[in-house]
Amino acid sequence: MPYADGDEQDVIDRLRASGRLVLSLVAIMDAEVVGHIAFSNALLSDSHDPWLALGPVSVTPNHQRSGIGSALINKGLEIIEKQGAPGCILTGNPDYYQRFGFKLAPDNVPANESELYFMVKAFTPTPPRGIFRFDEAFYYDL
Ligand SMILES: CC(C)(COP(=O)(O)OP(=O)(O)OC[C@H]1O[C@@H](n2cnc3c(N)ncnc32)[C@H](O)[C@@H]1OP(=O)(O)O)[C@@H](O)C(=O)NCCC(=O)NCCS
Repeated sequence: MPYADGDEQDVIDRLRASGRLVLSLVAIMDAEVVGHIAFSNALLSDSHDPWLALGPVSVTPNHQRSGIGSALINKGLEIIEKQGAPGCILTGNPDYYQRFGFKLAPDNVPANESELYFMVKAFTPTPPRGIFRFDEAFYYDL
C-alpha cells in the first residue's frame, strides 16, 4: 500500500517490547488467530490528552472481507472510548476507514506523514488542535 512501510509486524514487536502496546486484540476462529489490531499512544502537541493511534490491523488473507477487520476496529474503538480516550488517529486508506467515522485531518497531520492518508476520529464534538505524533516505534530506522 502507498501508505504502508512493510514493517508493520516489527512495529507491533517494538511496541510490545517497550511496554507501549496500549491495547492489542486478536480475532480467533477455530482455535486459530485470524486477525489482530494494535493501539498505541498518540501525542498531540501542546496537549496531554490521551489520544490513541489505531494500527497496524491485519486479517489473514483467506479470512479477509468477511467482517473480521471491521469487528476488530469497532471493538477496539468501543474499548478506548470507554477508557476515556478523546479520540483516535491512523494512517490508512480513507475509502476503508471513513466507514468507521474517521476523517482526513490535514491540519493535524504528523511530520513525514501524508495528508492524503492521515485520519482522525474524535469521540467528542471538540476537534483536536495541534499536530499529532505516532509512537516512536513507528519511526524506528532499521
Ligand atoms: C485491511 C484489512 C485489515 C480489512 O480487514 P477485513 O476483515 O478484510 O475487512 P472487512 O471484512 O471488515 O471489510 C471489508 C470491506 O473493506 C474493504 N477493504 C478491505 N481492505 C481494504 C483496503 N485496504 N482499502 C480499502 N478497502 C478495503 C473491502 O472492499 C470491503 O468493502 P465492502 O464491505 O464495501 O465490500 C485486511 O484486508 C488486511 O489485513 N489487509 C492487509 C493488511 C492491511 O492493509 N492493513 C491495514 C493497514 S495497517
